[in-house]
Amino acid sequence: MQMSLAVFVIFMLFLSTALQIESLSTLSPCPNQCGSTAINYPFGVDDGCGAPHYRKMLNCSGDLFFQTPSGNYKVKSIDYDKQTMTIYDPSMSTCTMLQPHHDFKMSDIQSVVIPPTSDTIFVLLNCSIDSPVLNHYRSLCFNFSGHSCDELYNTCTSYRVFHIGLGGYPPCCFTGYNTVKYMSMNILDCSHYTTVYNTDDLKGIGPLDWTYGIKMSYSVPNSGCERCQRSGGTCGYDTETEMMLCLCSGASNSTRECGA
Ligand SMILES: *[C@@H]1O[C@H](CO)[C@@H](O)[C@H](O)[C@H]1NC(C)=O
Ligand SMILES: *[C@@H]1O[C@H](CO)[C@@H](O)[C@H](O)[C@H]1NC(C)=O
Ligand SMILES: *[C@@H]1O[C@H](CO)[C@@H](O)[C@H](O)[C@H]1NC(C)=O
Ligand SMILES: *[C@@H]1O[C@H](CO)[C@@H](O)[C@H](O)[C@H]1NC(C)=O
Repeated sequence: MQMSLAVFVIFMLFLSTALQIESLSTLSPCPNQCGSTAINYPFGVDDGCGAPHYRKMLNCSGDLFFQTPSGNYKVKSIDYDKQTMTIYDPSMSTCTMLQPHHDFKMSDIQSVVIPPTSDTIFVLLNCSIDSPVLNHYRSLCFNFSGHSCDELYNTCTSYRVFHIGLGGYPPCCFTGYNTVKYMSMNILDCSHYTTVYNTDDLKGIGPLDWTYGIKMSYSVPNSGCERCQRSGGTCGYDTETEMMLCLCSGASNSTRECGA
């Protein structure tokens, strides 16, 4: 009799611990941190977390990565007030390092919900004289904050290899994201690119000290997430239907708010 009581008590202790662990793990159904970057709505790293528009865009493997059809880019920062994300392509050429040619390509939905900002500039380098941006589409090229291509070629050690004898340097073009969105590097006929952001702040600053990377501006879907968060829930979505879900601790999930 005593024996079975002891077994019963131990069983109950085990059960309550198991329940505690269960309720702890359901307390925050979605990771809210990756490395040193906070993961808040509309983003999510686990499937079913955040807004469905941003599904599978982020990958947390030690550091946070932004996944696009042209590769995974390291996330430098997310500014939740200004609604911007800054990414960096480690295989992109910079003022001090020349890297092999490649494209920057976003998915159609990424181009809509998280496009690069207008103060992010794509610098197309080593363009052929037949490049569309030197001919029919020459109006797509501009100088920014008083900077020109010549300055880049003359300052950056990595671009000296482009030098073409007495003729100096091949053409180059400062342009916006839309240009590379509609024309691949092959069509543009430029062998390399680099990207610079916060270009409005770069007046009088040399190419060595420019801020290399891509800043993107994201939109937050108006899907009633605030109401869910106010009730203590975490915003997510059904992975089959992609309908919004309010993920609640313990109790079952709801479409709008916890405890409803
Ligand atoms: C996440 O990104 C890293 C870095 O590019 C990559 O090595 C890894 O395979 C990616 N993981 C997934 C699940 O895509
Ligand atoms: C520059 O572009 C030309 C084609 O226009 C290409 O043949 C050459 O290899 C490029 N230079 C470098 C260093 O990649
Ligand atoms: C950019 O600046 C360079 C050098 O100052 C100048 O030759 C060129 O015409 C300018 N390009 C545009 C598009 O304004
Ligand atoms: C709530 O949704 C999450 C994510 O889809 C799921 O893992 C969990 O099992 C759901 N909980 C309940 C009680 O339905």
